[in-house]
Amino acid sequence: MSKPMPLVAGNWKMHGLRSSVGELARLAEGLAGISLQGRCEVMICPPATLLAQFADQSAGTLVRIGAQNCHAEISGAHTGELAAEMLADAGASAIIVGHSERRREQGETSGDVAAKAAAAHRAGLSAIVCVGETQGEREAGRTLAVVTEQLSRSLPDGARPANSIIAYEPVWAIGSGLTPGPGDIAEVHRAIRTLLTGRMGEEEGGSVRILYGGSVKPANASQLMAIANVDGALVGGASLKASDMLGIVAAYAR
Ligand code: 13P
Repeated sequence: MSKPMPLVAGNWKMHGLRSSVGELARLAEGLAGISLQGRCEVMICPPATLLAQFADQSAGTLVRIGAQNCHAEISGAHTGELAAEMLADAGASAIIVGHSERRREQGETSGDVAAKAAAAHRAGLSAIVCVGETQGEREAGRTLAVVTEQLSRSLPDGARPANSIIAYEPVWAIGSGLTPGPGDIAEVHRAIRTLLTGRMGEEEGGSVRILYGGSVKPANASQLMAIANVDGALVGGASLKASDMLGIVAAYAR
């Protein structure tokens, strides 16, 4: 079973203007200086307004560009929506789907998320499929049940290591400065791995990257990234600053 190449992906959420491209340049410059080749991939997912600019700007650097959402259909009368093919055309190589903020604010169901992930695949892109329990679900002892049910319903049939990345993001850890203990993260990531190998077989299921997300910072990155079955991070707030992002990536640059 080949160990997956780690990925540190930054989700900028609804932050960033065209002038933020300087932060991207600083990140690319910093990465060039720490010889990461073959150790870790790095991605920034800016708002859709910045995708094309960021993709052009990052060409030839170690930073890949991703999107934060897509519509499930290829085209049509859907005012304000973006098809996965449009995001690919703008230069995205991946799309985050099913982030808890969208599940909560837009009422996205796991069925919707599976359709969006399938749309990403149709467009030749990777889907970063997000799952995670709320504080109440954790307190009720339902974490593993919630996460595995979300994931099994959110992963489309064509999911493979080359086109799918899982992000475990406990809702209560997002933007709160809190993280689960290493044992708790290991338990959830192991359950996700078991689900993946059950669906795809040992070899493929073992090669899908499982990211941890929720209050990842330079100060906790090394500890979080060392946990079994944690193959990288999905970073929110700290990804907005190149220096913080570089501090997190440094967990993989030995
Ligand atoms: P924070 O890193 O700000 O907690 O956000 C995590 C997240 O939601 C990334 O998708």
